[in-house]
Amino acid sequence: MKYKELIQQMTLEEKASFMSGKDFWQTMDLERLGIPSMFLSDGPHGIRKQAEAADHLGLNESIPATCFPTAATVANSWNQELGELIGDYLGKEAVAQKVNVLLGPGINMKRNPLCGRNFEYFSEDPYLAGKLAAAYIRGIQSHGISACVKHFAVNNQEARRMSIDTIVDERTLREIYLTAFEIAVKEGKTKTVMSSYNMLNGAYTNENQHLMRVILRDEWGYEGVVVTDWGGSNDRVAGLVAGNELEMPTTAGETNLEIVNAVSSGKIQEKVLDEAVDRLLDLVFTTEQVFNNPLRDKDFDVNKHHRVAQKVAEESIVLLKNEANILPLQKNNNLAVIGQFAKEARYQGAGSSIVNPTRLDNTLECLEESGLTCIGYEPGFERYGKKNNQKINDACTLAKQADVVLLYMGLDEATEAEGLDRASMHIPQNQIDLLNALSEVNDNIVVVLSCGAAVEMPWIDKVKGLVHGYLAGQAGSRAMLRVLSGDVNPSGKLAETYPLRYEDTPSSHNFPGKEVSVEYREGMYIGYRYFDTAAVNVLFPFGYGLSYTTFAYSNIQVDLDKVTFDVTNTGDVAGMEVAQLYVGSASSDIFRPKKELKGFAKVFIHPGETKTVTIAFDDKTFRYFNVNTNKWEVEAADYNILIGASSADIRLETTLAVEGTGAPAPYDQAKLPSYYTGKASNVSVEEFESLLGHKVPKSTWDRSKPLGYNDTIAQCAYAKGGFARFAFKLITFAHWFLRKIGKRETANLIMMSVYHMPFRGMARMTGGIINMPMLDGILMIVNGHFFKGLGHVLKERKKMLKQAKGLSKAEAKG
Ligand code: BGC
Repeated sequence: MKYKELIQQMTLEEKASFMSGKDFWQTMDLERLGIPSMFLSDGPHGIRKQAEAADHLGLNESIPATCFPTAATVANSWNQELGELIGDYLGKEAVAQKVNVLLGPGINMKRNPLCGRNFEYFSEDPYLAGKLAAAYIRGIQSHGISACVKHFAVNNQEARRMSIDTIVDERTLREIYLTAFEIAVKEGKTKTVMSSYNMLNGAYTNENQHLMRVILRDEWGYEGVVVTDWGGSNDRVAGLVAGNELEMPTTAGETNLEIVNAVSSGKIQEKVLDEAVDRLLDLVFTTEQVFNNPLRDKDFDVNKHHRVAQKVAEESIVLLKNEANILPLQKNNNLAVIGQFAKEARYQGAGSSIVNPTRLDNTLECLEESGLTCIGYEPGFERYGKKNNQKINDACTLAKQADVVLLYMGLDEATEAEGLDRASMHIPQNQIDLLNALSEVNDNIVVVLSCGAAVEMPWIDKVKGLVHGYLAGQAGSRAMLRVLSGDVNPSGKLAETYPLRYEDTPSSHNFPGKEVSVEYREGMYIGYRYFDTAAVNVLFPFGYGLSYTTFAYSNIQVDLDKVTFDVTNTGDVAGMEVAQLYVGSASSDIFRPKKELKGFAKVFIHPGETKTVTIAFDDKTFRYFNVNTNKWEVEAADYNILIGASSADIRLETTLAVEGTGAPAPYDQAKLPSYYTGKASNVSVEEFESLLGHKVPKSTWDRSKPLGYNDTIAQCAYAKGGFARFAFKLITFAHWFLRKIGKRETANLIMMSVYHMPFRGMARMTGGIINMPMLDGILMIVNGHFFKGLGHVLKERKKMLKQAKGLSKAEAKG
C-alpha cells in the first residue's frame, strides 16, 4: 500500500468516512492529516461544474464551459487524434475549473436505437467505442486529472435503469459489452471507472464480484478507483468487498457507519477497507497536485476552445445523400432556410451531461460569413408543437422562390434525454408534414438533420441532399454551414446502423426490459453484426458516409500482423477517407458475425494522390471468448480480411490462415440454430437458455410480495397500501398532464427522478433527509400498514434529528 503510514494514523471511522461523498460532488477531506477533498463533475462533452445548487438531472446551471459535440457525434469522425484533442481541451477546462475527476466518457454499446442516452455514447461497435474512449482518456489525463469511464456495464436502457437485471451470456458480455471498457482500462489507462445502476445476471454491477473483481481487477489489472453512479449503491458493504471505493453522493454518513459496523463485527477484514482507502487517496493526491501548481491556468481561451469544438464538429458531420451533387451548394444559389432548428440549434442532449455553453452559434447568424445567398428564413414548425398550417404555408411561400431549400430538422431535447428511452424512431410528425408540403413546391430540398441517434426516414425520397450533424455542440451550426458551402469536405461515417424500420432491430423484441429483467437474447448480434449476418436490408449501414470526392482502393497485402493497401483520391477535391478493416472467419465451428470491425484508419488525400495505409492486427483481431476454457482463444481457421469504405461496401478482400490456440468449440450447434445462422432477432427462451447455460430468472414482478428497497415507485401501482396506489395515480396523472400542456421536460423529470426510482433511492439521494430506518416506515405505509408506518417514520426522524443535534454539539465542543 502506497499510503500505509497515513492510513495507520486514521481511525476506523475516518477511513470509512472516505467511502462516500462529503456532498453531491465532493469527496471527504481530513484536515488533521492534510487530505484534501476532490471534485467530480460531469460530463462527457463539456465540464458541468455546479458551483451552487447541485443535481444530476441537468436542472441547475453550471459554470460556463465549452460544449463540444457529444460522443455519438464525434464517433462519426473515426479519428482517434481528434478524440485525444477533445480530451485535451476538456482536460484544460477541468483544470481551470478545479475538477479532479471528469465523469466521462460514456461508452455503453448502442444495443437498441431507442436507448435514451445513445447520444452520449459512441457506437454499436466495441472496438470503435473503445479506441475513441481511450483517446479521450489520454487527452483528459494528460493534464494530471482523471477521466471516469462509465457506466460499467450493460447499462443499455434508461427505463428502470436503477433496478433492471440484464441477462446476458458470458461470451456476448465479453465480446460486445465489455471490450470497449477493456480498451479504456488497458490502453486509455483510465484512473476512475463508474459502475452502472443496473444489475448484471442477478447482482448489482457495483457488487458484482465477477465483473468488478474477476474481470476488472484480476484480468485487466485495474488499479484505479470505482465510483458508483449517483445514488446507485445498493448494499454498501457488498460494494466495498467487490472493490467500490467511492459511493456518491453523500448519504450523510449512514453508509459509512455500515462499513464501520461490518469491520467491527468481523464481517469484513479491515484490510479490505484499507486497500480501498489507499486507492482513493492515490487518486486524490495525484489529481490534486495539478491544482497546487502555481502556474496552473485558471482561465481558458474561450474563442480558441470554441474553434476546437467547431473543428471537431466539422470532422464529425456525415453526408448521407447527395443526389445530382446538390451539395456543396453554389454560392449564387438562392437559399430558403427553413426549420426552427436553424434559429435555435439542437446541439446537445438532456440530463446530467448538459453543459452551459460559453457561446452558441446559430445558423441564421452564421449565414452571412458562409458566403451563401439566403433569401429568407421561416421556422415552418414549432419545436414542441403540433402541425401549424400557417407556418407551413409561410415556409412554402418562401420555398417557391428559392433554388434550394435548406430544411433544418431533427429530434428535440425532450425526446433524447437521460432517464428515459425514446418511444419510437420517428422524427416529430409536424416536421414531416412540413417536408411533405415543401416537396410539393420545390424539388431541391436539402435536409440538415440534428439528432443524437438513429431515426427512421420514410420521407427520404423527398429530399435530394441529407446531411447529419448529430448533436454538434456549441459551434455545430457554423461547422455545418462550412460543409454545406464546400469549405469543408465531409468525412464523417456513421458509427451506428440506421435500420429501415425499428422493428428490424434484433433487440426490438426484448427492449426495454419492463419489469424485473431484460434478456439479451440476440446475443452478440447487435447493430451491423446482425444486419450483415442475417442479410437484412438497412437504410444506412454502419461505417457509411459520403464525400465531395471519391476514393479507390487497391493493392491489398496481408501478413500475420498487418494489412496494407492503397487509397487513391479519384475526385477533384481533397478529402479524408475512413478505411475500415473487417475480419470474418471462414470456419463455422464457432458461430460469429459474418464480419467484425478490427481496425480503421482516417487518411487525408489530395486529388489524384495515392496513400498507402497500414492497419496493424492486435490481440482483438482474431480472438473469441471461449466459455468452456473461460479464456480468450483463437480458432484455427482461414480468416477473411476485408477492407471497406463501409460495412456494406467492401472494396478489397483477401484471406489469411491463422493458427489457433487449440481449444475445442464450446457449443452444441444443434441447440443454437439462431446464433449459428445469425438470424437472432427472435430467439426462443429455450435457445437463449442453451446459450446462457442456465434457466432465465422470472422476468415479471411477483405482485404478491410486499415492496422492498429495490422495488421502484412505479410498482406502487399494485402496492397493498391504498395510499401508495393513490400516490402512483397522482404521479402518472401529473406526468400525463404535464405532457398534455406541453411541459415535456418537466414530465421527463418525473420519470427520471420519481417513477423509475427504487425506494432505496430515497435514502441514497436525499443527502440524509430520509435515512434507511425512515424508509422502513415508508415501506410499511406502501405495504398497507399506514399508521404503523407513519409512526415509525416519525419516531426515526426524531431519533435522527436528536443524533444530529448531539453530533453538532459535540463538534462545537471539540
Ligand atoms: C448519470 C451519470 C452522471 C451522474 C452524476 C447519473 O444520473 O447516470 O452519468 O455522471 O448522474 O451527474
